[in-house]
Amino acid sequence: MRYRVDLVPLATSLEVERGASLEAALSPHGVEFPCGGAGACRGCRVRVIEGVLAVTPEMEEAFTREELASGWRLACRGRVESALTLEVAQWEMPVLGDDSTFAFEPAEGCGIAIDLGTTTLAAQMLDLETGAILAVKTALNPQAAYGADVMSRVQYAISGGAGRLTAAIREGLGELIRAMPRRESVRLAMLAGNTVMHHMFSGIDVAPLAQAPFQTAAGGERRFTPRELGWDLPDSAVVRFLPCLGGFVGSDILAGILATGIGESNPLSALIDLGTNGEIVVGDGRGLLCASTAAGPAFEAGRIRMGMRAASGAVAHVVARDGRLECRVIGESAPRGICGSGLVDAVAVGLDLGQILPNGRLADGAREFPLVPPVVVTQADIRELQFAKGAIAAGLRLLLKRWGARAGDLGAVHLAGAFGNYLNAESARRIGMLETPASLVRPAGNASLRGVKMALLSPSRRERWIAGIRGRAEHVALASEAGFEETFVNCLAFGMSDRIGI
Ligand code: FES
Repeated sequence: MRYRVDLVPLATSLEVERGASLEAALSPHGVEFPCGGAGACRGCRVRVIEGVLAVTPEMEEAFTREELASGWRLACRGRVESALTLEVAQWEMPVLGDDSTFAFEPAEGCGIAIDLGTTTLAAQMLDLETGAILAVKTALNPQAAYGADVMSRVQYAISGGAGRLTAAIREGLGELIRAMPRRESVRLAMLAGNTVMHHMFSGIDVAPLAQAPFQTAAGGERRFTPRELGWDLPDSAVVRFLPCLGGFVGSDILAGILATGIGESNPLSALIDLGTNGEIVVGDGRGLLCASTAAGPAFEAGRIRMGMRAASGAVAHVVARDGRLECRVIGESAPRGICGSGLVDAVAVGLDLGQILPNGRLADGAREFPLVPPVVVTQADIRELQFAKGAIAAGLRLLLKRWGARAGDLGAVHLAGAFGNYLNAESARRIGMLETPASLVRPAGNASLRGVKMALLSPSRRERWIAGIRGRAEHVALASEAGFEETFVNCLAFGMSDRIGI
């Protein structure tokens, strides 16, 4: 008998024989066993999110009673006796915070800014009088146990799990807040997130987001009392989830627009959040067009054979010198996998060397593109990236077409999110994901968190800002746009897209 084992935060699934050792099952997927599986280092720890993994005497030694109760186990001592969903500690994602400075209006008390991402959560406690950051807390979104991307969570919600998803995210954020100082002084907590996160946090039905036209009428601002959420904050505090912009484009993008100022300035600019739910905005002082596109998890190295987070042992950059590959591996350890930025570089270099063809096939019938032993990029990996980059390129192209512009008219492209921060813009251009010169591409960091902080720290201006962006942003349902399918298919090809007409 075989059981399914799901690994988060990367969307990896395996089938494992009943009774088999977890060490044998996880090793080929890049999980390290630093003490060789002796049960002595905790380096292989996993947290059981679903299923049962028996506690052994070594685990009782390695963990406190609280840690065992919250599901922590040693993978090297575990045997598979049920279907499992495991959080692999080595794969914890780096969560982008924000330490930028900007003008603020002093006010009394403290406030909490929260970026509620599909994969990660980031929260900051702010002194509203001084603007100082008093605490920064980050975590994985606990909903990951119910699906890696927004659509799988929507499906889970529709099939009866909605209450569980709402409880998981409220409790997860409540835990982050409980670990913060000065909670008794909090007056306001503000959250931003995509539409699915907004609905799930608020307890709103997500079924309309699962079928055409993928719209919801319930995307307005939501307010809560801490008591309703079970949060350890004063009764007088207000919790506000900022409003969505339409479809899957949520308040994370509203906050990102605020943070990057793209709706205020000329020339025409774009803001792109490169996540599993890709969100795109183009606009200038005259208006804003926004859309979302299902990119899948390839940018986060999900569903990539040797995909891993940007951590020790990950191939993060690849270049070719004199026809030979040079891979930059994070940390001191030997190469053991590839992260999203490495994958984009690898495909860009493969195209330059003629080992990957513009249609995405490996040349000469090869099945893998070897980088540095044992790391390879497979044909299936290339396809995953092709779909992800095609979704982004097509979305941007369709929005620009609607605006009456072309890629060459963009004065700046802001890339939000962790992946956007590390991406090599030249490689992104080489694979045809972006069509603008690399010099115009700007990493925007956690623009969502920064925008929420700006709103929190500017009490006299925030309502005008929020209403202004909502009023000017027009949501575009890409699938209903003329030429959608043709544009998407055209954008699947790798390479400079000037060759592909709109
Ligand atoms: S590998 Fe060291 S405790 Fe499991």
